[in-house]
Amino acid sequence: MAYQVNDTDLRDSQVADLLFEYMPKIAAEHRTDSLLLLMADLGRRIVQADRCSLWLIDEERNELWTKVAHGVNELRIPLTAGFVGYSLKTGQPVLVEDAYQDSRFDRRSDLKNNYHTTSVMTMPMESEGRVMGVFQAINKIGDNVFFSQKDLEHLKLISVYSAKTIESAIRAQKLEHKAEELESAHMELIRILGEVSEFRSQEVGDHIHRVSEISRMLARYYGLSEEQQKLIYYASLLHDLGKVGIPDMVLKKEGRLTDSEYTQMKSHSVIGRTLLRDSRTDLLRMAADIAGAHHERWNGNGYPDRLEGENIPLAARICSVADVLDALACPRCYKTAWLEEHVREEMKKSRGTYFQPELIDILMDHWDEFYSCYKPNGMFIKKGLLPPVKA
Ligand SMILES: [Fe+2]
Ligand SMILES: [Fe+2]
Repeated sequence: MAYQVNDTDLRDSQVADLLFEYMPKIAAEHRTDSLLLLMADLGRRIVQADRCSLWLIDEERNELWTKVAHGVNELRIPLTAGFVGYSLKTGQPVLVEDAYQDSRFDRRSDLKNNYHTTSVMTMPMESEGRVMGVFQAINKIGDNVFFSQKDLEHLKLISVYSAKTIESAIRAQKLEHKAEELESAHMELIRILGEVSEFRSQEVGDHIHRVSEISRMLARYYGLSEEQQKLIYYASLLHDLGKVGIPDMVLKKEGRLTDSEYTQMKSHSVIGRTLLRDSRTDLLRMAADIAGAHHERWNGNGYPDRLEGENIPLAARICSVADVLDALACPRCYKTAWLEEHVREEMKKSRGTYFQPELIDILMDHWDEFYSCYKPNGMFIKKGLLPPVKA
């Protein structure tokens, strides 16, 4: 059967105008759902249809799915349903004037949606030699009643464009997902490693997690970017990693350490730095800085390198404030928790000696917020990061 070309079909130049109008929106959109809607809208305007939809194959569920504007959920149909199923199976387009006169038509969707389909076009969407879905247009609008051969050509054009675009969006989404998965596995390993070092160093009650939370708060008030805050949070979990290399007889000794045992204990900072420093990731390099310098002091009297002032890496300066604050504020096996005013006094006294003055200023300016973490109903209790108070 020969199909006429309607006078009111869009001219190629109008089609090109529409393509140029949609291209920037399509290029900026990476979510498959939203792309399906944009493409369908573009298709609807180009072929002047009442409805357009892009059906994609879901290989896992052996179904076709699409997204409709304002539809909360996606629509799903069997792979073989109706004209769409026909195009998918044969790789051929469909162009019909009255769906109800065609045995391939599946009336169920009309019944379900209280709609009356008359004219229909479908076009298989191919990318890299494989059919990935079907573009469907329903009911010609305007002066013409049927879709024309020209409409079918236009549908072919946007089907090719849509297939390429969606294929690359799906590929990008998969890559993103993989990257996210890798990142969370990486963070998880760091958390586990931090907990191993905590277990080894006889710390009680999630000290490292609290140090990381306080470090992140300090970093935020210091004006570091969210990315840096996140790095400091995770890197601080490893501040005492080097304790895995300290012998039990020193680490678990009750009572005073001899001078040589103390020297051995102090070597945990160098051991930690050595374990981490060859990494190529920003996170582990920062962790190496923190592990190596969290016992340095602002006035140069710390260890292991007696670094002074800004020669101490910033992340280590931040973590050392959090480390000492937590050590004072929480009970340890050899001491009870200090009273709040004593902790505050001690931290203030260490401004410019132990700690960078600006960091202590931040701590003092926001003292209530920092210290509220340790209080009943505070963040640490809520997150289960505080040891139970001994009666
Ligand atoms: Fe330490
Ligand atoms: Fe610590």
